Amino acid sequence: MSETTARMDDTGSGESPRVPQVTVEVHVQPGDARRALHTEVLAGLCGEATPKELSPKWLYDERGSQLFDEITRLPEYYPTRREREILQSYADDIARASGADTLLELGSGSSEKTRLLLDALGHTGRLRRFIPFDVSEAFLRQAAEAVALEYPGLAVHAVVGDFERHLGKLPGGGRRLVAFLGGTIGNLKPAQRARFLSEVSAGLAPGDGLLLGTDLLKDRKRLFDAYNDSAGVTAAFNRNVLHILNRELGADFVPEAFQHLAPFDEENGWVEMRLVSSRPQEVHLAALERRIHFAEGEVLRTEVSCKFRPEQVEAELSAAGLHLRERWTDAAGDFALSLALKR
Ligand code: AVJ
Repeated sequence: MSETTARMDDTGSGESPRVPQVTVEVHVQPGDARRALHTEVLAGLCGEATPKELSPKWLYDERGSQLFDEITRLPEYYPTRREREILQSYADDIARASGADTLLELGSGSSEKTRLLLDALGHTGRLRRFIPFDVSEAFLRQAAEAVALEYPGLAVHAVVGDFERHLGKLPGGGRRLVAFLGGTIGNLKPAQRARFLSEVSAGLAPGDGLLLGTDLLKDRKRLFDAYNDSAGVTAAFNRNVLHILNRELGADFVPEAFQHLAPFDEENGWVEMRLVSSRPQEVHLAALERRIHFAEGEVLRTEVSCKFRPEQVEAELSAAGLHLRERWTDAAGDFALSLALKR
């Protein structure tokens, strides 16, 4: 796939004089997501892959994002609350230790956590620039403009891109803190994770930092319950991907004919979201002119969510040339934020 030329515009030059400091840079083209979905479905669902597999990025259409938002408020789903607790307690320490004048946030960019970091960086007197990076242009524009309005004087430069393809495009200059929160790095398997970390590292200058949120290994029942909640929200979130495939690929999945199950895989150290076929069934994917067969009990894997030991995070950062400066955890020791500086 050819690299895109960035389209740059300044929403302050004309139509939005109220937010003069927002600029947007776009690295994804309209058909990119659909082409990527086709390629992935052909390889992961129509080919010989065992188990059948889809990457978790397809879980997030509008409904999927809403359901995830609901997940973050479930009593069983602790990571969001724990990470927020860490930021509430330590954001000022993090900001000081980073010495950053620029916050570059991978994914999200609209959350309360972003504000906690921006406020703390503001307290150091150094904060000048916020660079939210996300794959959804509409979402990013909204989030960027909201932040610009709330933080007068802050230069906001939004970058629309995919962190698997466009990390090389991260804007340089200043002393940067890259934040990758929420435990999203857990969605990457070890080899992908190593590549991701070395790409982030390659884009940093000495003294720049990465603030990385990771969920930690813990009691297996708590891990299980966090991904198999009693209200069934995670199940709805998981099955929603079948509605997405029906819509995007003209498929005829019957979502109710798949059971949600998210067990902890001891060998790999990850929680794995599965859709388990309740019966033998055929699915037609009109847009790809393919049929897929599912045996009874056959698994479609839709996400892995790795759980870490703190020392393992440190070792992986170090292998990428990122030196652990400090690590913060919540009082219960459920979640960690690691600040690593580029050597
Ligand atoms: C957004 C990737 C951090 O892995 O915990 C929540 C997604 N999946 N429940 C996670 C998710 C099922 C979440 N991340």
